[in-house]
Amino acid sequence: MDTYTQELRATAQAMVARGKGILAMDESNGTCNKRFQKLGIPMTEEYRQAYRQLILTTPELSNYISGPILYDETIRQSTKDGVPFLKVITDAGMIPGIKVDTGAKDLAGHPNEKITEGLDGLRERIAEYYSMGARFAKWRAVITIGNGIPSRACIEANAHALARYAALCQEGGLVPIVEPEVLIDGNHTLERCLQVTDETLHTVFNHLYTQEVAFDQMILKPSMVIPGKECSTQASVEAVAEATMNCLLKNVPATVAGIAFLSGGQSMEQSSAHLNAMNATFGSRCPWPVTFSYARAIQQPALDHWSGDSGRVAEAQQKLLARAKCNGAASIGEYSS
Ligand code: 13P
Repeated sequence: MDTYTQELRATAQAMVARGKGILAMDESNGTCNKRFQKLGIPMTEEYRQAYRQLILTTPELSNYISGPILYDETIRQSTKDGVPFLKVITDAGMIPGIKVDTGAKDLAGHPNEKITEGLDGLRERIAEYYSMGARFAKWRAVITIGNGIPSRACIEANAHALARYAALCQEGGLVPIVEPEVLIDGNHTLERCLQVTDETLHTVFNHLYTQEVAFDQMILKPSMVIPGKECSTQASVEAVAEATMNCLLKNVPATVAGIAFLSGGQSMEQSSAHLNAMNATFGSRCPWPVTFSYARAIQQPALDHWSGDSGRVAEAQQKLLARAKCNGAASIGEYSS
Protein backbone atom coordinates (compact mmCIF):
# COMPACT_ATOMS: atom_id res chain seq x y z
CA MET A 1 0.00 0.00 0.00
CA ASP A 2 1.26 3.49 -0.77
CA THR A 3 2.85 5.43 2.11
CA TYR A 4 -0.12 7.64 2.85
CA THR A 5 -3.10 5.51 1.78
CA GLN A 6 -4.58 4.86 5.23
CA GLU A 7 -3.98 8.41 6.39
CA LEU A 8 -5.49 9.92 3.23
CA ARG A 9 -8.62 7.76 3.55
CA ALA A 10 -9.06 8.70 7.20
CA THR A 11 -8.53 12.41 6.51
CA ALA A 12 -10.95 12.42 3.58
CA GLN A 13 -13.64 10.78 5.68
CA ALA A 14 -13.06 13.17 8.57
CA MET A 15 -13.41 16.15 6.20
CA VAL A 16 -16.98 15.11 5.42
CA ALA A 17 -17.92 13.76 8.85
CA ARG A 18 -21.67 13.77 9.51
CA GLY A 19 -23.06 17.25 10.16
CA LYS A 20 -19.82 19.00 9.22
CA GLY A 21 -18.41 20.79 6.20
CA ILE A 22 -15.30 22.66 5.15
CA LEU A 23 -14.74 26.38 5.62
CA ALA A 24 -13.10 28.01 2.60
CA MET A 25 -11.05 30.95 3.92
CA ASP A 26 -8.31 30.71 1.33
CA GLU A 27 -8.95 33.98 -0.48
CA SER A 28 -5.72 35.17 -2.05
CA ASN A 29 -4.44 38.53 -0.77
CA GLY A 30 -5.90 40.12 -3.91
CA THR A 31 -9.39 38.69 -3.38
CA CYS A 32 -9.33 39.34 0.37
CA ASN A 33 -8.27 42.94 -0.26
CA LYS A 34 -11.10 43.43 -2.77
CA ARG A 35 -13.62 42.30 -0.15
CA PHE A 36 -11.99 44.57 2.45
CA GLN A 37 -12.00 47.53 0.06
CA LYS A 38 -15.79 47.33 -0.38
CA LEU A 39 -16.16 47.77 3.39
CA GLY A 40 -13.42 50.34 3.83
CA ILE A 41 -11.17 47.95 5.76
CA PRO A 42 -7.43 48.69 5.36
CA MET A 43 -5.92 46.27 2.85
CA THR A 44 -2.90 45.29 4.95
CA GLU A 45 -1.43 42.11 6.36
CA GLU A 46 -2.35 43.32 9.85
CA TYR A 47 -6.06 43.41 9.00
CA ARG A 48 -5.97 40.16 7.05
CA GLN A 49 -4.38 38.53 10.12
CA ALA A 50 -7.00 40.05 12.43
CA TYR A 51 -9.83 38.81 10.22
CA ARG A 52 -8.45 35.29 9.95
CA GLN A 53 -7.87 35.23 13.73
CA LEU A 54 -11.51 36.22 14.20
CA ILE A 55 -12.63 33.27 12.07
CA LEU A 56 -10.30 30.65 13.50
CA THR A 57 -10.91 31.52 17.16
CA THR A 58 -14.69 31.41 16.85
CA PRO A 59 -15.91 29.33 19.81
CA GLU A 60 -17.48 25.99 18.84
CA LEU A 61 -16.63 26.37 15.17
CA SER A 62 -15.43 22.76 15.11
CA ASN A 63 -18.98 21.56 15.87
CA TYR A 64 -19.83 22.29 12.23
CA ILE A 65 -16.48 22.72 10.47
CA SER A 66 -14.14 19.78 9.89
CA GLY A 67 -11.36 22.01 8.63
CA PRO A 68 -10.56 25.41 7.15
CA ILE A 69 -8.79 25.94 3.81
CA LEU A 70 -5.98 28.45 4.31
CA TYR A 71 -3.96 30.64 1.98
CA ASP A 72 -0.14 30.64 1.95
CA GLU A 73 0.03 33.89 3.96
CA THR A 74 -2.47 32.59 6.54
CA ILE A 75 -0.88 29.20 7.17
CA ARG A 76 2.27 31.02 8.33
CA GLN A 77 0.45 33.44 10.66
CA SER A 78 -0.23 33.34 14.40
CA THR A 79 -2.73 34.94 16.75
CA LYS A 80 -1.85 38.33 18.24
CA ASP A 81 -0.70 36.37 21.32
CA GLY A 82 1.71 34.33 19.23
CA VAL A 83 -0.16 31.02 18.90
CA PRO A 84 0.34 29.67 15.37
CA PHE A 85 -2.95 29.43 13.47
CA LEU A 86 -2.08 25.80 12.71
CA LYS A 87 -2.04 25.08 16.45
CA VAL A 88 -5.34 26.92 16.97
CA ILE A 89 -6.89 24.73 14.27
CA THR A 90 -5.57 21.38 15.48
CA ASP A 91 -6.22 22.21 19.17
CA ALA A 92 -9.85 22.77 18.20
CA GLY A 93 -9.93 19.32 16.59
CA MET A 94 -10.03 20.64 13.02
CA ILE A 95 -7.87 19.65 10.06
CA PRO A 96 -5.82 22.35 8.30
CA GLY A 97 -6.04 22.62 4.51
CA ILE A 98 -4.22 24.79 2.00
CA LYS A 99 -4.94 26.31 -1.40
CA VAL A 100 -2.11 25.28 -3.73
CA ASP A 101 -3.11 26.63 -7.13
CA THR A 102 -1.66 29.97 -8.18
CA GLY A 103 -4.78 31.32 -9.81
CA ALA A 104 -6.81 31.25 -13.02
CA LYS A 105 -5.02 32.91 -15.96
CA ASP A 106 -6.18 33.66 -19.50
CA LEU A 107 -6.19 30.53 -21.67
CA ALA A 108 -4.08 31.18 -24.76
CA GLY A 109 -6.10 31.39 -27.97
CA HIS A 110 -9.42 31.25 -26.11
CA PRO A 111 -10.83 34.67 -25.27
CA ASN A 112 -12.82 34.87 -22.01
CA GLU A 113 -11.63 31.47 -20.82
CA LYS A 114 -9.27 30.61 -17.98
CA ILE A 115 -6.72 27.95 -17.13
CA THR A 116 -5.64 27.44 -13.54
CA GLU A 117 -1.89 27.44 -13.02
CA GLY A 118 0.39 26.16 -10.27
CA LEU A 119 1.79 22.77 -11.29
CA ASP A 120 5.41 23.98 -11.48
CA GLY A 121 7.15 23.30 -8.17
CA LEU A 122 3.96 21.84 -6.74
CA ARG A 123 5.61 18.64 -5.42
CA GLU A 124 8.00 20.76 -3.32
CA ARG A 125 5.25 23.07 -2.05
CA ILE A 126 3.12 20.07 -1.06
CA ALA A 127 6.08 18.62 0.87
CA GLU A 128 6.51 21.91 2.74
CA TYR A 129 2.80 22.24 3.57
CA TYR A 130 2.64 18.61 4.73
CA SER A 131 5.64 19.12 7.00
CA MET A 132 3.98 22.23 8.44
CA GLY A 133 0.87 20.19 9.29
CA ALA A 134 -1.56 20.65 6.40
CA ARG A 135 -3.48 17.49 5.54
CA PHE A 136 -5.58 18.51 2.55
CA ALA A 137 -5.35 20.87 -0.41
CA LYS A 138 -7.53 22.75 -2.85
CA TRP A 139 -7.22 23.61 -6.54
CA ARG A 140 -9.97 25.58 -8.27
CA ALA A 141 -10.61 25.42 -12.01
CA VAL A 142 -12.99 27.95 -13.55
CA ILE A 143 -15.36 27.17 -16.42
CA THR A 144 -17.24 30.11 -17.90
CA ILE A 145 -20.54 29.76 -19.77
CA GLY A 146 -21.08 32.26 -22.59
CA ASN A 147 -21.48 32.66 -26.30
CA GLY A 148 -19.73 29.61 -27.79
CA ILE A 149 -17.94 28.79 -24.55
CA PRO A 150 -16.79 26.75 -22.72
CA SER A 151 -14.58 25.27 -25.41
CA ARG A 152 -13.43 21.70 -25.37
CA ALA A 153 -9.90 23.10 -25.04
CA CYS A 154 -10.75 24.86 -21.78
CA ILE A 155 -12.50 21.90 -20.19
CA GLU A 156 -9.75 19.45 -21.23
CA ALA A 157 -6.86 21.67 -20.09
CA ASN A 158 -8.43 22.36 -16.70
CA ALA A 159 -9.40 18.72 -16.14
CA HIS A 160 -5.87 17.63 -16.97
CA ALA A 161 -4.35 20.13 -14.52
CA LEU A 162 -6.80 19.08 -11.78
CA ALA A 163 -5.85 15.44 -12.26
CA ARG A 164 -2.11 16.12 -12.16
CA TYR A 165 -2.57 18.25 -9.04
CA ALA A 166 -4.64 15.53 -7.36
CA ALA A 167 -2.07 12.83 -8.12
CA LEU A 168 0.74 15.00 -6.71
CA CYS A 169 -1.28 15.69 -3.55
CA GLN A 170 -1.90 12.02 -2.90
CA GLU A 171 1.77 11.24 -3.50
CA GLY A 172 2.69 13.84 -0.86
CA GLY A 173 0.04 12.99 1.76
CA LEU A 174 -2.55 15.73 1.15
CA VAL A 175 -6.18 14.89 0.33
CA PRO A 176 -6.99 16.80 -2.86
CA ILE A 177 -10.15 18.86 -3.06
CA VAL A 178 -10.88 18.80 -6.79
CA GLU A 179 -12.84 21.95 -7.63
CA PRO A 180 -14.17 22.46 -11.14
CA GLU A 181 -16.37 25.56 -10.76
CA VAL A 182 -18.90 26.28 -13.50
CA LEU A 183 -19.52 29.98 -12.92
CA ILE A 184 -22.98 31.33 -12.11
CA ASP A 185 -22.27 34.56 -14.07
CA GLY A 186 -24.32 35.04 -17.22
CA ASN A 187 -27.87 34.62 -18.51
CA HIS A 188 -27.71 30.90 -19.33
CA THR A 189 -30.54 28.55 -18.38
CA LEU A 190 -30.47 25.71 -15.87
CA GLU A 191 -30.44 23.27 -18.80
CA ARG A 192 -27.32 24.88 -20.25
CA CYS A 193 -25.62 24.78 -16.84
CA LEU A 194 -26.55 21.11 -16.59
CA GLN A 195 -25.05 20.37 -19.99
CA VAL A 196 -21.78 22.17 -19.16
CA THR A 197 -21.51 20.68 -15.65
CA ASP A 198 -22.17 17.22 -17.05
CA GLU A 199 -19.42 17.56 -19.68
CA THR A 200 -17.04 19.10 -17.15
CA LEU A 201 -17.48 16.41 -14.49
CA HIS A 202 -17.30 13.65 -17.08
CA THR A 203 -14.02 15.06 -18.40
CA VAL A 204 -12.57 15.67 -14.94
CA PHE A 205 -13.21 12.09 -13.82
CA ASN A 206 -11.82 10.79 -17.09
CA HIS A 207 -8.53 12.60 -16.39
CA LEU A 208 -8.52 11.62 -12.70
CA TYR A 209 -8.88 8.00 -13.81
CA THR A 210 -6.08 8.34 -16.36
CA GLN A 211 -3.74 9.81 -13.74
CA GLU A 212 -4.71 6.99 -11.34
CA VAL A 213 -6.03 9.25 -8.63
CA ALA A 214 -7.57 7.22 -5.77
CA PHE A 215 -11.22 8.29 -5.60
CA ASP A 216 -11.62 7.22 -1.97
CA GLN A 217 -8.84 9.65 -1.02
CA MET A 218 -10.25 12.81 -2.63
CA ILE A 219 -13.13 15.24 -2.20
CA LEU A 220 -15.04 16.74 -5.12
CA LYS A 221 -15.99 20.40 -4.76
CA PRO A 222 -18.53 21.09 -7.50
CA SER A 223 -20.79 24.00 -8.26
CA MET A 224 -24.55 23.46 -8.22
CA VAL A 225 -26.60 23.14 -11.41
CA ILE A 226 -28.39 26.47 -11.38
CA PRO A 227 -29.52 29.12 -13.91
CA GLY A 228 -27.12 32.01 -14.55
CA LYS A 229 -27.56 35.05 -12.29
CA GLU A 230 -28.97 37.09 -15.18
CA CYS A 231 -31.27 34.36 -16.53
CA SER A 232 -34.87 35.60 -16.66
CA THR A 233 -36.18 32.21 -15.53
CA GLN A 234 -34.85 31.29 -12.11
CA ALA A 235 -35.38 27.77 -10.76
CA SER A 236 -37.06 26.42 -7.64
CA VAL A 237 -34.99 24.95 -4.82
CA GLU A 238 -36.31 21.51 -5.77
CA ALA A 239 -35.34 21.92 -9.44
CA VAL A 240 -31.77 22.92 -8.55
CA ALA A 241 -31.45 20.05 -6.09
CA GLU A 242 -32.80 17.52 -8.58
CA ALA A 243 -30.69 18.66 -11.55
CA THR A 244 -27.55 18.82 -9.42
CA MET A 245 -28.00 15.42 -7.82
CA ASN A 246 -28.85 13.70 -11.11
CA CYS A 247 -25.72 15.19 -12.66
CA LEU A 248 -23.54 14.05 -9.75
CA LEU A 249 -25.08 10.57 -9.60
CA LYS A 250 -24.37 10.20 -13.31
CA ASN A 251 -20.75 11.37 -13.22
CA VAL A 252 -19.20 10.84 -9.78
CA PRO A 253 -17.91 7.34 -8.92
CA ALA A 254 -19.47 5.86 -5.79
CA THR A 255 -16.05 5.46 -4.16
CA VAL A 256 -15.36 9.22 -4.02
CA ALA A 257 -14.97 10.07 -0.32
CA GLY A 258 -17.31 13.05 -0.36
CA ILE A 259 -18.88 15.99 -2.15
CA ALA A 260 -18.47 19.49 -0.70
CA PHE A 261 -20.17 22.26 -2.69
CA LEU A 262 -18.95 25.79 -3.25
CA SER A 263 -21.52 28.57 -2.87
CA GLY A 264 -20.39 30.46 -5.96
CA GLY A 265 -22.17 33.75 -5.33
CA GLN A 266 -25.56 32.31 -4.32
CA SER A 267 -27.18 34.02 -1.35
CA MET A 268 -26.56 32.52 2.06
CA GLU A 269 -30.13 31.28 2.34
CA GLN A 270 -30.11 29.76 -1.15
CA SER A 271 -26.84 27.96 -0.50
CA SER A 272 -28.26 26.38 2.65
CA ALA A 273 -31.67 25.61 1.13
CA HIS A 274 -30.18 23.90 -1.93
CA LEU A 275 -27.81 21.78 0.14
CA ASN A 276 -30.63 20.88 2.49
CA ALA A 277 -32.97 19.83 -0.34
CA MET A 278 -30.29 17.63 -1.85
CA ASN A 279 -29.82 15.79 1.42
CA ALA A 280 -33.46 15.71 2.47
CA THR A 281 -34.74 14.43 -0.88
CA PHE A 282 -31.82 12.48 -2.33
CA GLY A 283 -29.73 11.61 0.72
CA SER A 284 -30.76 7.97 0.75
CA ARG A 285 -29.74 7.53 -2.92
CA CYS A 286 -26.27 9.06 -2.51
CA PRO A 287 -23.23 6.84 -2.13
CA TRP A 288 -21.18 9.75 -0.72
CA PRO A 289 -21.72 12.40 1.99
CA VAL A 290 -22.93 15.68 0.44
CA THR A 291 -21.85 18.78 2.35
CA PHE A 292 -20.46 22.29 1.95
CA SER A 293 -17.13 24.01 1.43
CA TYR A 294 -18.45 27.57 1.37
CA ALA A 295 -16.57 30.84 1.63
CA ARG A 296 -18.92 33.76 0.99
CA ALA A 297 -22.07 31.93 2.17
CA ILE A 298 -20.49 31.45 5.59
CA GLN A 299 -18.22 34.47 5.98
CA GLN A 300 -20.20 37.36 4.54
CA PRO A 301 -22.32 38.42 7.55
CA ALA A 302 -19.31 38.15 9.85
CA LEU A 303 -17.11 40.21 7.55
CA ASP A 304 -19.82 42.86 7.06
CA HIS A 305 -20.38 43.17 10.80
CA TRP A 306 -16.71 43.22 11.77
CA SER A 307 -15.70 45.71 9.10
CA GLY A 308 -12.28 46.03 10.71
CA ASP A 309 -13.58 47.07 14.15
CA SER A 310 -11.89 45.14 16.97
CA GLY A 311 -14.84 45.91 19.26
CA ARG A 312 -17.15 43.80 17.08
CA VAL A 313 -15.19 40.56 16.99
CA ALA A 314 -17.40 38.54 19.35
CA GLU A 315 -20.63 39.49 17.54
CA ALA A 316 -19.07 38.78 14.16
CA GLN A 317 -18.02 35.36 15.43
CA GLN A 318 -21.62 34.64 16.44
CA LYS A 319 -22.73 35.48 12.90
CA LEU A 320 -20.11 33.20 11.43
CA LEU A 321 -21.10 30.39 13.76
CA ALA A 322 -24.78 30.85 12.91
CA ARG A 323 -24.10 30.30 9.17
CA ALA A 324 -21.81 27.34 9.89
CA LYS A 325 -24.57 25.82 12.03
CA CYS A 326 -27.22 26.33 9.32
CA ASN A 327 -25.04 24.59 6.77
CA GLY A 328 -24.14 21.81 9.18
CA ALA A 329 -27.88 21.19 9.52
CA ALA A 330 -28.36 21.38 5.74
CA SER A 331 -25.68 18.75 5.26
CA ILE A 332 -27.96 16.26 7.02
CA GLY A 333 -31.26 17.60 5.64
CA GLU A 334 -32.29 19.32 8.87
CA TYR A 335 -32.08 23.01 7.93
CA SER A 336 -35.03 25.35 8.13
CA SER A 337 -34.57 29.02 7.27
P1 13P B 1 -17.61 30.44 -2.43
O1 13P B 1 -18.38 29.53 -1.51
O2 13P B 1 -17.63 31.88 -2.03
O3 13P B 1 -17.96 30.19 -3.88
O4 13P B 1 -16.09 30.03 -2.29
C1 13P B 1 -15.75 28.72 -2.32
C2 13P B 1 -14.40 28.59 -2.84
O5 13P B 1 -13.53 28.10 -2.16
C3 13P B 1 -14.12 29.07 -4.19
O6 13P B 1 -12.88 28.59 -4.60
